[in-house]
Order: sequence, then structure tokens, then C-alpha cells
Amino acid sequence: MIDFIGLAIVLLLAVAFGYLVKRAWGSKNKILKWVGVIGAGLLTLVFAAAFIGALVGTMRLNQNFNASNPVSNVTIQATPEQLAFGAKYAKFCAGCHSGNQQLPLSGNNFGAEIPIPFGTLYAPNLTPAGNIKDWTDGEVIRAIREGVHKSGRALIIMPSNEFHALSDEDVQGLVAYLRSQPAVEPNTPPTSMNVIGALLLGATGGLTRQPAITQPAPKPAVAVNAEYGKYVSEILVCRACHGEKLTGGAGFDGSPAPNLTEVIPQWTEEQFLTAFRTGALPGGAMLDNAKMPYKEFSEFATDTDLKALYLYLHGLTPSK
Ligand code: HEC
Ligand code: HEC
Repeated sequence: MIDFIGLAIVLLLAVAFGYLVKRAWGSKNKILKWVGVIGAGLLTLVFAAAFIGALVGTMRLNQNFNASNPVSNVTIQATPEQLAFGAKYAKFCAGCHSGNQQLPLSGNNFGAEIPIPFGTLYAPNLTPAGNIKDWTDGEVIRAIREGVHKSGRALIIMPSNEFHALSDEDVQGLVAYLRSQPAVEPNTPPTSMNVIGALLLGATGGLTRQPAITQPAPKPAVAVNAEYGKYVSEILVCRACHGEKLTGGAGFDGSPAPNLTEVIPQWTEEQFLTAFRTGALPGGAMLDNAKMPYKEFSEFATDTDLKALYLYLHGLTPSK
């Protein structure tokens, strides 16, 4: 994934404007001289900076993580319970990996909505007609939890930070579910970033590689206790909006997500379950599902999940 032609064009533009600066400097006409030097000088700087940014982005896009994030050697034999978990959890992938936000995960053109020609980026087809038919179970697990492609490069935008906490049991159920979907043709085209994509990534980040998971990641026993509740809070990504310490943050649209360490200790378990099952808050207001996707959480979570989650949040020490 190296856009040699794009990089060469940007470099040539920098050199060409640099040459114009030199020419303008030699001009006898004072106005022409300074307009030329300043105008062409600025453009030289812009294209030189763009070249460096694109070069850094290209290097980051092609960095290989096979050594730091080894692939586990596992062959999944999922139980019906694991498969059922996978089928439920896969709905959280559908927002990106499906054109109609529904299962099966037949892929979706991620670039279609973005009005910048940065290359080709699909959230790939994850049915047995997609690339993963040629990936080992370990490679798919690594992609989900660690954000690394089969080739060893970092994945783009794929939010593996949110899936990093999935236990071995649950991520295996998820992969078993992916492989149990109907094979939906066609496969999605491979990712490729041109010089603009490389520049954007070089400047902003957007690569989501996570630390390697090399130790067993057991799933806590499913029970109404704080340990399991913490796990539920991790795989339902409460922290993505309510902040790393759940002390408040912002939703995906920027609206404030309240401090859960202050709110939940004042709620009863019943109030908490009602909020998730119906959206109705203790004060009488309603949760806005577009900001806080309680319907999706409610569909996923059993009463045991919610009660454990409540116990965990209720026990947090209130902090600002
Ligand atoms: C925010 C959007 C988004 C969400 C949510 C998301 N993905 Fe992805 N995923 C992507 C994008 C984009 C890529 C392609 C990245 C690339 O090629 O660099 C990707 C790549 C992958 C890959 C690598 C496949 C391949 O052919 O390269 C796997 C496996 C994967 N995702 C699984 C999942 C699973 C399972 C979930 C849900 C638990 C999920 N993703 C949720 C955006 C998303
Ligand atoms: C996509 C971002 C997002 C995620 C993920 C998310 N929340 Fe929220 N949450 C919000 C926002 C934004 C609000 C404020 C909603 C409103 O004003 O309607 C909110 C409100 C709440 C409230 C109501 C608080 C109050 O004082 O009214 C509770 C409780 C809550 N969230 C708990 C959770 C828990 C537990 C999780 C994880 C299972 C979670 N949220 C995941 C964004 C999110």
C-alpha cells in the first residue's frame, strides 16, 4: 500500500515551487519579486509539509506488527452458548460492516460518506464470502481484539480498542458466528490508501492497533457480582462515551455523557433496569437513544448482565 505516484507528485510540486522562489528572488521587478517569493515560498512549505506527512503516514500504514502481536494457534470449537453470544454481539459490528446496519455482515463502503478522495476503505465483508475465509481463527481474533490485519499491518478505523476486553470464550463465539453466516457475495475490495489517505493518517492517526494479548483472557463467571459487571461495562464500551474512569465524557455526537460514579450510587437497581429497558429516567425524563443507545444495550443484555452492571457501577467511589 504505497502510492509512489502520489508521493512523487507532491514532492515534485514542492521542488517546483521551490524553484519558482529562486526565480522570483532573481527578478528585477520588486513587486514581482516579493509576491513571487512569498506566494511560491508558502506553497513550497505547504507541499514540503504534505510530503513529510504523507511519508510518515505511508510508513505507519505499512508498519508490520507480526512480531509484537503474534497470532494465537487456536482452532475454535464453539458451544451453542458461545455461538449465541456471538450472534448477539455481532449486531454491534453491523453499524459499520453492513450497508443496512443488519446482519449478516456483508461489508460496507466506508468511503462513500466522506467527501475526500483518500482511496478505498470498506468495512470488509465478514461472511464466509469475505477475506476471512482465508484467515485462521487466530488471525480473525487478532484483527478483532488487537486491530492487526492478516498481513501484519494495523487496521484503519476498526475500533479494536473497544473489543480489546473480550474474553477468549466470547471472541471465539463471535468468530464462530461470523463463520456461520450465509456467504454473501460479492466480497468487498481490498483497502488501499492514496497519498491523501496517507497524509490524513500521518496527521491524525486512525490506526487502531492494540497491545498484544498473549495470556489467557478468561471470562468471569456469569453472575450478579461486581466482577462480571465490570466485564459487561467493558464489552458494552460504557467508557467510550462516559470516560476512561466513567466520570463523564462525550457521546459520539459530542453531547455530554454524565458522570456515572455520581449518578448510579443514587439509583436503585430497579431504576437502573427501568432506564435500560424503557429509557425512562428516575426524574421522569427519557433517554435519547440516538445519544445513549440503550435499546441496543437492552436487546443484548440479560437481567443478570444488567444487575451485575448495576452492582459494579453502584459500588464505584463517586469522583469528579
Ligand atoms: C467503526 C466502524 C467499525 C466497527 C464498529 C467494526 N469494524 Fe471491523 N473494520 C472496520 C474497518 C473500516 C475495517 C477495515 C480496516 C482496514 O482494512 O484497514 C475493519 C476490519 C475488520 C476485520 C478485518 C477483515 C479484513 O478482511 O480485513 C475484522 C475481522 C473485523 N473488522 C471484525 C469486526 C467485528 C467482529 C466487529 C464487531 C465486534 C467490528 N469489526 C466492528 C470498521 C469497523
Ligand atoms: C455512544 C455513547 C454512549 C455509550 C456507549 C454509553 N452511553 Fe450512557 N449516555 C450517553 C449520553 C450522551 C447520555 C446522556 C443521554 C441524554 O441526554 O439523553 C448517557 C446517559 C446515561 C445514563 C443516564 C444518566 C443520567 O443522569 O440521566 C446512564 C445511567 C448511562 N448513560 C449509563 C451507561 C452505561 C452503563 C453504559 C455502558 C453499558 C453506557 N451508558 C454507554 C452516551 C453513551
